Amino acid sequence: TYAPVADVLAGKYGVNDTVTIKGWVRTRRDSKAGLSFINVHDGSCFDPIQVIALNTLENYDEITRLTTSCSVSVTGTVKQSEGQGQSIEINAQSVEVIGWVENPDTYPMAAKRHSMEYLREQAHLRPRTNIIGAVTRVRNCLSQAVHRFFHEQGYFWISTPILTAADTEGAGEMFRVSTLDMMNIPRDEHGNVDYKEDFFGKETFLTVSGQLNVETYCAAMSKVYTFGPTFRAENSNTSRHLAEFWMIEPEVAFADLSTVAQLAEDLLKYVFKAVLEERPDDMAFFAQRVNKDAITRLENVVNSEFVRMDYTDAIEVLKNSGKTFEFPVEWGVDLSSEHERYLAEEHVGAPIIMQNYPKDIKAFYMRINDDNKTVAAMDVLAPGIGEIIGGSQREERLDVFDRRLAEMGLDQEDYSWYRDLRRFGTVPHAGFGLGFERLVAYVTGMQNVRDVIPFPRTPGNAQY
Ligand code: 4AD
Ligand code: MG
Repeated sequence: TYAPVADVLAGKYGVNDTVTIKGWVRTRRDSKAGLSFINVHDGSCFDPIQVIALNTLENYDEITRLTTSCSVSVTGTVKQSEGQGQSIEINAQSVEVIGWVENPDTYPMAAKRHSMEYLREQAHLRPRTNIIGAVTRVRNCLSQAVHRFFHEQGYFWISTPILTAADTEGAGEMFRVSTLDMMNIPRDEHGNVDYKEDFFGKETFLTVSGQLNVETYCAAMSKVYTFGPTFRAENSNTSRHLAEFWMIEPEVAFADLSTVAQLAEDLLKYVFKAVLEERPDDMAFFAQRVNKDAITRLENVVNSEFVRMDYTDAIEVLKNSGKTFEFPVEWGVDLSSEHERYLAEEHVGAPIIMQNYPKDIKAFYMRINDDNKTVAAMDVLAPGIGEIIGGSQREERLDVFDRRLAEMGLDQEDYSWYRDLRRFGTVPHAGFGLGFERLVAYVTGMQNVRDVIPFPRTPGNAQY
């Protein structure tokens, strides 16, 4: 067996204990005094561990040929370090080389700073860099904390389908899934593609949201959430859009918009706290390298109340801001990312829960407010990134729902199962979707969501 580097550095082994660690060389430095310092990382924590190898080791000649990313197994004794910065190191009794790096001069991940664009082209090797390692640990910490939060509050995790015929957001930005032979595509008498011949017997897509499915479980289990991959074929090449991203969608029965606004605030604070407590090493790195406020702004968010603001008031704020926006502001427009960022960054300086948007810019399922102009919708806007959460109270009144469908030109037939939930024991309920990559980007300060998901899917890029 072998020990995670994190455990050795955390002092879980006593001084003079013998341990074995296995990992990859980050750097090697030889001293004239006849020894080498080898930094070895294994992913378990931000810092590599320093291994000291004396020239009395039988394969010392081999050791002095170690380069970045060679894999090694080191057995040695745990020592309190005399050097600065590191408290624990290993005096090697043996250093076994497991895998060499062929031609180190052409190794794409030399131990130096690479641009994020360059690292994206090396998606299979970039996990070895300290920046992607840190992102990976924080991402993992956040997903564990999300599950823990809901579990502690009595929510059930529902696995919603990835293949579906429903267009939840009604935006038509869906990837079609088909087994039809494109060369001999079957057509009906009107010349339309005949999906009766297709695998599912109808046109099918990758899901854009698990919401409608999770609503059905909400109408029986009361408190539920889904956490899985979602897909959007929106052709936006921005730093906050992915074609494949993960979403956390809670749905709560006997609840209104204010219930889930509070839930969103509690969830965000809970997961921020988890990262601050569990990943101080990685967060210190992000504060040093990516955003100097990375830690303090999370602490501030954890310790303050989120500002709640109505869309209608936000429009007034934007109009009176004295700013010229690329997209002009007037009541009824959707907020663009420049508006969202102005509000969160300059006007408030903290996350905002924006509520009660015009119904014409929002999805069919949102509950109509008494003014008949707005819906009980909310977005959470975060500084640096804009919208990270979108949610709403759902329309639970069948007659109102049917009127909305008709108004939007949607077919009742397509929503028969969804209407059933309103026919058989309907209840007020509400929920939201938190974009997981936007959350990770916000927490780490990383500028682009492509760098916080292991294998980003964007227009023109679905390589391995
Ligand atoms: O606002 P959206 O479209 O809301 C829904 O899908 C609802 N059905 C959620 C619900 O009420 N259950 O998306 C929710 C969040 C956004 O706030 C954003 O964080 C993220 O999902 N998101 C994306 N993240 C990365 N890339 C994209 N292309 C995204 N589109 C949305
Ligand atoms: Mg949205």
